[in-house]
Amino acid sequence: MQHEAITEIQAAQTLDDLQGVKTRYVGKSGLVTKELGTLGRLPPEERKARGAEINAVRQAIDAALTEREGVLKRAALDAKLSSEAIDVTLPGLGLPSGGLHPINRVYDELIGIYERLGYAVVEGPEVEDEHYNFEALNVPWYHPARDLQDTFWLEDGRLLRTHTSPMQIRYMVEHEPALKVVVRGKVYRYEATDATHESMFHQLEGLVVGEGISMADLKGTIAEMARGLYGASAKVRFQPSYYPFVEPGADFAVWWENPRGESKWLELGGCGMIHPNVFKAVDDLREAQGKARVYEGQTGFAFGLGPERIAMLKYGVPDIRYFYANDPRVLGQFRGELG
Ligand code: DAH
Repeated sequence: MQHEAITEIQAAQTLDDLQGVKTRYVGKSGLVTKELGTLGRLPPEERKARGAEINAVRQAIDAALTEREGVLKRAALDAKLSSEAIDVTLPGLGLPSGGLHPINRVYDELIGIYERLGYAVVEGPEVEDEHYNFEALNVPWYHPARDLQDTFWLEDGRLLRTHTSPMQIRYMVEHEPALKVVVRGKVYRYEATDATHESMFHQLEGLVVGEGISMADLKGTIAEMARGLYGASAKVRFQPSYYPFVEPGADFAVWWENPRGESKWLELGGCGMIHPNVFKAVDDLREAQGKARVYEGQTGFAFGLGPERIAMLKYGVPDIRYFYANDPRVLGQFRGELG
């Protein structure tokens, strides 16, 4: 009986099975219990030996039950723990990905073109001195651009730069010719906003100074940019224009082949040959800082354009204010691919 009981105990796979075996052998009416109940019917001289025998069987069965119970309890706990553990094979939760702002995409494209042409890329202060923003750029005090309506003036007499052109001055004060540089950054105008005007927008400014630089170099550079933006067959148009810091000055436009069928000349920005007064203003600043006058007599060109206009047409955004309203319905369309 001991042998069978122990075999059954070891075969029990669950605590319920084990409980069944326990009841069958050592429960109130179990086989071992019944056997103990028969002792009274034995002759007294046999009782003691038989009693000891059955007790030994009972102890062996109890020991086996206790051991098996421990094993099954541990197994049950392990199963519970592993069912609660992290399943590393489950698919993860998708994290929303960001994306580059459309203006940064256009900047990256433009700056990539100029980097391949060997230009340095710089930024500059948005809070600017009047002298750099206007005076040194040959914008006299009576020029309408100085009007209170165009400029955000600060209480200390400085201003928010109205264009990136003051970085021409800052860069030339710090560097000697020859040089090629583009400036990226925000500019500010104090004016009412509408679908094509914001009080904050961006510019890309170019400056090239060196021996023998001519208007032909300027036109070739703008044409190269147009080809980089719109492909090998891009067409460029120049029209005479006036900017105080260049002479001659021009506006340039690119023929924009619209896939939706409204192709047109896209007025991108202004450009021209650097005015001698600008070189003189740079040399005056350099001299005041103990640096050599090296710009008078140089030639060079400059240009400035706005990436917003390119981005509006490229991405079909009808209102410049959408770029800066932080509305996820607009910017969410530029998520994911970074290009
Ligand atoms: N600074 C001018 C503006 O904000 C743009 C510009 C025109 C920049 C002609 C230039 C230039 O460098 O040569 O309207």
